[in-house]
Amino acid sequence: MRYLWWRLSVFLLAGVWPFWWVYQAWIFALGPDPGKVLVDRLGLGTLVLLMVTLAMTPLQKLTGWPGWISVRRQLGLWCFAYVVMHLAAYLFFVLGLDWGQLGVELRKRPYIIVGALGFVCLLLMAVTSNRFSQRRLGRRWKVLHRLAYVVLGLGLLHFLWVVRADLKEWAVYAVVGALLMLLRFPAVASHIPRLGRR
Ligand code: HEM
Repeated sequence: MRYLWWRLSVFLLAGVWPFWWVYQAWIFALGPDPGKVLVDRLGLGTLVLLMVTLAMTPLQKLTGWPGWISVRRQLGLWCFAYVVMHLAAYLFFVLGLDWGQLGVELRKRPYIIVGALGFVCLLLMAVTSNRFSQRRLGRRWKVLHRLAYVVLGLGLLHFLWVVRADLKEWAVYAVVGALLMLLRFPAVASHIPRLGRR
């Protein structure tokens, strides 16, 4: 299999963080509310992985190295795995699996609805990320997987709603997200310089 070591390295690098954070929680290194810290880290991890996934195509165009594309699907699936853990951590640590509280929670934190919409989009992309769906959906597959841009917007809005007052960190993510979107416009994409072989 091509790029085996590269793929394996990406796999390990993306997969190690949740174990590390759970370990930190276990040894009481995440402060007085480790559950909330876990929710936040997994949420940020989801957004970072989404951005890294979206950076693979421009990086391939820039360097001409096909290895970037060889890990794109894996990174997308990691992004989904993180959002599943983010949701599970929220349900377990914040909601305490008290389903009766869900209505109250949604009124108290409406940004959860925005996150849930992002979750549904990621779920649709994850279940159709295989070759079989790609063949069956044909051209519609590409259109469906453009939902990644919608998730980026929803993720940034959800994040903005959470941080509200402290905009500095959010602004960094928003600028990176805007740059990644800009690189998708054909007029911009066609001007990406080729530094390496095609
Ligand atoms: C059903 C789906 C989701 C639920 C229930 C959910 C819930 C939450 C909650 C409760 C928080 C913590 C708020 C706080 O600190 O007070 C949070 C933070 C966050 N979530 Fe989500 N979320 C969901 C989906 C998503 C998605 C799809 C993304 C990204 C694409 C995302 C990214 C984030 C980010 C970046 C933060 C802020 C982390 C930080 O403050 O460091 N979430 N989410």
